[in-house]
Amino acid sequence: MLEVNGIDVAYGHIQALRRVSLRAQAGEIVALTGPNGAGKSTVLRTISGLLRPLAGEVILDGTRIDRMAPERIVEMGVSHLPEGRGIFPTLSVEENLRMGYFIKRRDRLGFKSNVERVTELFPRIRERWSQAAGTLSGGEQQMLALARALLPEPRLLMIDELSLGLAPIVVQQLLSRVQEINEQGTTILLVEQYVNLALRIARRGYVMEKGRIAMSGEANQLLKDSEQMRASYLGGGGLGASDDVAAAALAEDAAATAPAKRRAPRKTATRRTKTG
Ligand SMILES: Nc1ncnc2c1ncn2[C@@H]1O[C@H](COP(=O)(O)OP(=O)(O)O)[C@@H](O)[C@H]1O
Ligand SMILES: [Mg+2]
Repeated sequence: MLEVNGIDVAYGHIQALRRVSLRAQAGEIVALTGPNGAGKSTVLRTISGLLRPLAGEVILDGTRIDRMAPERIVEMGVSHLPEGRGIFPTLSVEENLRMGYFIKRRDRLGFKSNVERVTELFPRIRERWSQAAGTLSGGEQQMLALARALLPEPRLLMIDELSLGLAPIVVQQLLSRVQEINEQGTTILLVEQYVNLALRIARRGYVMEKGRIAMSGEANQLLKDSEQMRASYLGGGGLGASDDVAAAALAEDAAATAPAKRRAPRKTATRRTKTG
């Protein structure tokens, strides 16, 4: 349903993306990962029409959208949960949802039934209805941001850094919700700094580095490759390996796949150390 073909994107004189191509088929969860500054958010901003590519194209269901206004792209079924959530902290939960909804539609009845639909996924949102959004916990704020992004009934939901600042257990719960959203028919493009987090629920993935796609493939294969990269470049791997969240996810992975899968590395004692 989504095709990004060889896009170049720049901020003024700074080129952020070079020849980036990726695709998502209807019903898929696709992960877009890579270290901080790699260009992941820039890809999402370009798809949602906030940035224009200098070269290349973005195609949604056969229609070229890279020259369209962001509102039009929302109408075509693309919803973008931005990095940092984009919540208005002094507004209530309800007001935040209304702002998200009325950007696209104006009918009040539609709002009510749509809110019922999304609060079934996130009952906690209901309980916090009149509370200022800024007083919610980080996890609740992310639920609110997800609920708001779902109100216009997107066919493609793009999520930028779901895990940002959240405890692993909360991230786990949110990832399960994302899987449910996907099972209900929404295609997901999941941007995560932490390779293993995103790849755990994705079918396919892309790893970015310095504005380019460095690796792509089936999620299982990418997980193996990135683990191998971590093993061979201990400390130097820009894949977020040292982060707590990633470490916790890895530990859970290990627990889930033990005892079967932990093989000893083929080669031992060939790692070079820099001693100067
Ligand atoms: N608003 C901006 N103005 C100038 N440069 C930017 C802006 N946003 C991002 N960049 C630069 O573009 C590159 C890609 O950034 P970004 O897409 O935010 O990466 P990621 O989301 O993978 O961390 C980085 O070098 C970053 O410094
Ligand atoms: Mg980003």
